Amino acid sequence: MSTQTVHRTPSVGVTSKSTRDIETDILIVPVFEDDVLAEEAELDAASGGEIAGARTRGEFKGKDYEAFIPPVRGWKAGRVALVGMGRRRDFGLDCLRRAAATGALAARQRRLQRMAIVHGAGIPVSAPDAAQVLAEGAVLGNFDGASYKTTDPPPVWLEDVQLRIEGDPGTVQQAVDRGRVLGECTNIARELANEPSNALTPRVFADRAATIARGAGLSVDALDETRIAELRMGLLLGVARGSQEPPRLVVLQYDPKPAARTPVLGLVGKGITFDSGGISIKPAENMDKMKDDMSGGAAVLAGMVAIARLQAPVRCIGVIPMTENMPGGRALKPGDVLVSAEGKTVEVLNTDAEGRLTLGDACWYARQLGATHLVDVATLTGACVVALGRTTTGLFGTPDAWVEQVRRVGERAGDRLWRMPVFDDYKELFKSEIADVANTGGRAGGAITAALFIKEFTGDLPWAHLDIAGTAWAEEAKPYQPKGATGVAVRTLAELALAVDAWATL
Ligand code: BES
Ligand code: MN
Ligand code: ZN
Repeated sequence: MSTQTVHRTPSVGVTSKSTRDIETDILIVPVFEDDVLAEEAELDAASGGEIAGARTRGEFKGKDYEAFIPPVRGWKAGRVALVGMGRRRDFGLDCLRRAAATGALAARQRRLQRMAIVHGAGIPVSAPDAAQVLAEGAVLGNFDGASYKTTDPPPVWLEDVQLRIEGDPGTVQQAVDRGRVLGECTNIARELANEPSNALTPRVFADRAATIARGAGLSVDALDETRIAELRMGLLLGVARGSQEPPRLVVLQYDPKPAARTPVLGLVGKGITFDSGGISIKPAENMDKMKDDMSGGAAVLAGMVAIARLQAPVRCIGVIPMTENMPGGRALKPGDVLVSAEGKTVEVLNTDAEGRLTLGDACWYARQLGATHLVDVATLTGACVVALGRTTTGLFGTPDAWVEQVRRVGERAGDRLWRMPVFDDYKELFKSEIADVANTGGRAGGAITAALFIKEFTGDLPWAHLDIAGTAWAEEAKPYQPKGATGVAVRTLAELALAVDAWATL
């Protein structure tokens, strides 16, 4: 584990005080670029016209996540910071979430521990939605990348966050609590994904997953290599062969008592703690990044924790295959044929296409355990990064209605998802000469053939696949997010379970 704590969840409360009376170290006011909200006008008066002046001078424009701290007299808050959200017509829920995270990071940079956010009544969003995403953002801002620096001063954490939102106090506080859990669970996934692979081996990942999951009341089964072999998971075992570290398969179950027997949401996450490529070894440049190849597994773990803590009204199963992908004397070799737990045979043309192998056995196991609907999350292909870049996750699957459902909750969760095709035509690209399928389909359409390979193991259940290869890791810091693991997909998975009424009959 890193030498310092990397996140802490502040208390988040709701206040109905007038803005001038909120006692806090820093009061955050989200504003638009092209529209002056009532709250900004009030603040402008209290600053003697400083804000209007800064706007005319161009010192502050209200562009995305730009912060401005005007001098304000006669207010109880120690400081007031405007945070820009861009133009009103481009507004979406995520703008508020990011403004809150920006505020939190700005507060901590100034070593302040109490923050309040004023939600403008003129922002086009419901009170509970605003409450949820502001709480999420504030908690997301209370996160640092893992640090093993022995010289770092201890980080400053926000202790107390107050939100001023008009609306029914009970409903608003409930939404705040939901947002707080979703923010905290996103941070749990980020913390794990930032860990170096020598600290987070498959065994350590399994132990930490079990501890975290039990803490949330989930039932946990952490299968070791013997039990994985008893289940004849030839694909997972094949990938693990090259490593000195034994594999694990972590199974999490959430069984809320009043919930119906079906549907059962099956969540499957890629848990490669380090991907060297195996015998088809990767180039040295950027290989260090492959410690985050377990981000999908971390998202499934943290998503399941959120689902349990929020008591989502649906049964859920999480399956996380964990292994390293290493070259070694006994490693999988190109041309080898593996037999999956389901009995399908796979010719391994490239040992670097390991994620889909482990997910094949894991999807089969989720079905064995009773899943009726599947979602898998994986840092699966460089091809997806080429197609969509580093801000958008590739969304694949069938049938349309199920995939659309995932897309909708993803939008709400602030995970940018974009649908990709899964036409059967692509299947001929990964035909094998000697086995049922091959594990690669060449460069063209690489993200799609990878998705369709996984589909082979979904038994035609409704299935959605999130390729987070581009989105799991932020290459540079943003005002609302430090460099490193992003925690992508955690909130999407939780929102999907919370929205079960919308998809139970699909
Ligand atoms: N973990 C990688 C995918 C990846 C690449 C994630 C870049 C993040 C950034 C995956 O296991 C992989 O190596 N995929 C290969 C597949 C190929 C051999 C068919 C790839 O994308 O090159
Ligand atoms: Mn690989
Ligand atoms: Zn990989």
